[in-house]
Amino acid sequence: MSIQLVYSKWEKTNVLLHSPALREYIPSTKLFNKENLQLMLAEYGMVYVKPVNGTFGKGVMRVERLKQAAKGYKYQLNTTIRTFPTLELLHQSLVKRINGRRYLVQRGIDLLRHKNRRFDIRVMVQRNENNHWEATGIIGRLAHPAKVVTNYHNGGTPMSFERLLSSHQSPTQKMIYAMRLKQISLDIAKELEKHYPGIKELGIDIAIDQQQRPWILEVNTKPDAFIFRKLEDKTMFRKIYQYAVSYGRYKKK
Ligand SMILES: Nc1ncnc2c1ncn2[C@@H]1O[C@H](COP(=O)(O)OP(=O)(O)O)[C@@H](O)[C@H]1O
Ligand SMILES: [Mg+2]
Repeated sequence: MSIQLVYSKWEKTNVLLHSPALREYIPSTKLFNKENLQLMLAEYGMVYVKPVNGTFGKGVMRVERLKQAAKGYKYQLNTTIRTFPTLELLHQSLVKRINGRRYLVQRGIDLLRHKNRRFDIRVMVQRNENNHWEATGIIGRLAHPAKVVTNYHNGGTPMSFERLLSSHQSPTQKMIYAMRLKQISLDIAKELEKHYPGIKELGIDIAIDQQQRPWILEVNTKPDAFIFRKLEDKTMFRKIYQYAVSYGRYKKK
């Protein structure tokens, strides 16, 4: 019995777009090329450019059109920021970074902040012992102050959902919102399994924008269970780990 893994963010996004209910949560996403870059920057002002087959936030770039007076464009990769007077020059520079690989350009979401640092949410859904999908964990990830990604393997700090949302929502609102994000994640699992019957666990990256609207950034078929161990309360981690061990993700210690 093996776990089905799906690497292509492009393929997974297109599968989710089949569902009218999930569509509204997916930021517009296209394959990277000059035309799509231009169109998306004109429409959204800020986009993320990222590898079709990426992990750990590697190669992820935040690209912006500068406001009126300044004119031009800028992008950030890791901690390096570069600016350009024209789209042509911006594109040339991105193409060098991309170096022949397949990349996506996705509408950028202005992430909610905690202590002036961006954060997003990871929801874990797994098949349980009855083969039913269960939302087994929810956690936040706070970006390193100098970076544009929240990944733990890229300087991000795992933190409880409750703590990160405490300056934005009341305890009751937080409870309801967490339930909503878990339900969206279960709906994602049910949609994806129609196309990928062998998937067993998913880690769903969810952005929350300034209006507190949730957006699905990506879905991982090989999510890291261990970020949940960073939480003081180990309840979620224990269950997640136990499920993962049961289908062979980790060797039991
Ligand atoms: N469209 C976007 N808007 C805002 N932030 C984004 C967007 N896409 C990615 N990010 C940030 O970059 C991180 C890494 O991107 P992601 O698509 O999850 O790729 P990876 O597979 O490398 O984790 C996300 O967790 C988020 O912090
Ligand atoms: Mg991710």
